[in-house]
Amino acid sequence: MNDLAIFGGNPVRTKPFSSWPETNHDYGTALQKVVESGRWGVGSPLIKQFNETFAETQDAKYCISTNSGTTALWVALKAAGIKAGDEVIVPAYTFIATASAILMANAVPVFVDIDANTLNIDASQIESVITPKTKAIMTVHISGNPANLGHILAIAEKHDLVVIEDAAQAHGAEWNGTKVGAIGLGGIFSFQTSKNLSAGEGGAIVTNDEAFMEACFSYHNCGRVMGGKWYEHNHLGGNFRFNAFGAVMLLEQLKHLESEMVLRENNRNKLDEQISQIEGLTPIGRYAETTRESNHLYLLKYDSSKFNDVHRDNFFKAMQAEGVFTYKGYTPLYREALFITNPDEYPWLKDHDYQSLSLPVTENISDNEIVWLKQNHLLGNDDDLNDIIRAFEKVTGAIKKDPDKFRDLA
Ligand SMILES: Cc1ncc(COP(=O)(O)O)c(C=O)c1O
Repeated sequence: MNDLAIFGGNPVRTKPFSSWPETNHDYGTALQKVVESGRWGVGSPLIKQFNETFAETQDAKYCISTNSGTTALWVALKAAGIKAGDEVIVPAYTFIATASAILMANAVPVFVDIDANTLNIDASQIESVITPKTKAIMTVHISGNPANLGHILAIAEKHDLVVIEDAAQAHGAEWNGTKVGAIGLGGIFSFQTSKNLSAGEGGAIVTNDEAFMEACFSYHNCGRVMGGKWYEHNHLGGNFRFNAFGAVMLLEQLKHLESEMVLRENNRNKLDEQISQIEGLTPIGRYAETTRESNHLYLLKYDSSKFNDVHRDNFFKAMQAEGVFTYKGYTPLYREALFITNPDEYPWLKDHDYQSLSLPVTENISDNEIVWLKQNHLLGNDDDLNDIIRAFEKVTGAIKKDPDKFRDLA
C-alpha cells in the first residue's frame, strides 16, 4: 500500500506520454507554398483542395470548411432551416458547443439522456420529447464512437425531422461501412488543437445534399450566394471561413490519418483487454453497426460498488499521483450556469426550465462513473500502454485492499 505514489511511494510513470498535436510532419514546405501564393484565405485553391479531399475522406459529396466546429454547427443548423423558437434534440453529455450553437441560432436545445453503454444519445428516449416545435435531432458521436444512427434516422423520418451529426470528434469513424458526417442531412467536424486532425482551430461541414451545401456556403460566407456577386447577400451569415494555412496543415495530416487510426485502434484494444480484467472497470461499448471508431478519447466506467464505495474522484487522485492523468470530462450540460437564462436576453427560452431537469444516466456517468484518458495515451508504444495498465492495476488493487485509506484523500 505504501508504495502508492499518493502515500509517498514511487509513481509508475514519470515521463510524459506522447505529445499532441503531431509536430514532426512535413508542414514547412506546404506552409511556405501558401505564403508565396499570396492567397491566404478566401479563393485559395488549397482550401478548395482540402474541401474536396476531406469530403472524400468522409464519404461525402461536399465539404465546406469553417473557422471552428462551433461555427460549423451554427451554419449547419441555419442551413437546415432551423428558425427562432424551433426545438433541437441533443444529448446532455457532450461538449457545450453542441448546445450553445443551438442557442446562437435562437433555437431551443432539448436534452435527452444517454445510453450508459455507449454514452451516446439514448435513441429510445427521443420520441418522448418530440413536440410540434421539434425540427432537428443533433446527434453527437461521442469520443468518435458513432451514435445509433439507424434508430435515430428512422425516428427522424417518421416525424419529418432533420438529423445533423456533431462529428467533431469522429474523423474517420464509420457506421455500417460508411464514414459518419453525411449519413444524416449533414455533419460537422472540429480541427481544434486536441482533435485527431488539428489545424489549431478550424471546422468543416460535410453533406451529400447540394441545396444544404449551398445554404452552408451562404451562412458561412457573409450570406453570399454561391456563384453570385461579391456584394450580394441573401442570408444573415457571418465570416466563418477557413484559411489556407490550416488547409495545408490538414492536407499533410490526412496522409497520416489511416496509420494513426490503426495505432489508436490497436492501443485501444490492448487497453480494453487488460482493463476489463479489473473487476469494477468497464470499457465503453459500441453499437453492432459501428464498423470503425476514431478513438478520440479513451473512456471507461468506474463502478464504486466494486471498490467498497470509494468514490471515483479519489481513484483519480491516486492515478494522477502515479503519473497517469485520468479525469471526469463533461458535466451534464443543463447544469452549466449558461442555462440559468435571463428572459430579457433569451426570451424564447422563458418557458424552458433547465434547472429542474434531471437525466439519471448522464448524471451518474458524470458524477460517479466516467473515466477519461486523453487521446495522446492511445498514440504510444507497448511500454507506454504497460505503464497505464500497471497504474490502473496498482491503484485499483490498493483500493480494494484497504478502502478506508482512500475515503478522504485531500
Ligand atoms: C462534440 C463537440 N462538438 C463541437 C465542438 C466544437 O468545436 P470547436 O472547438 O472547433 O469550436 C467540439 C470541440 O471541442 C466537440 O468536442
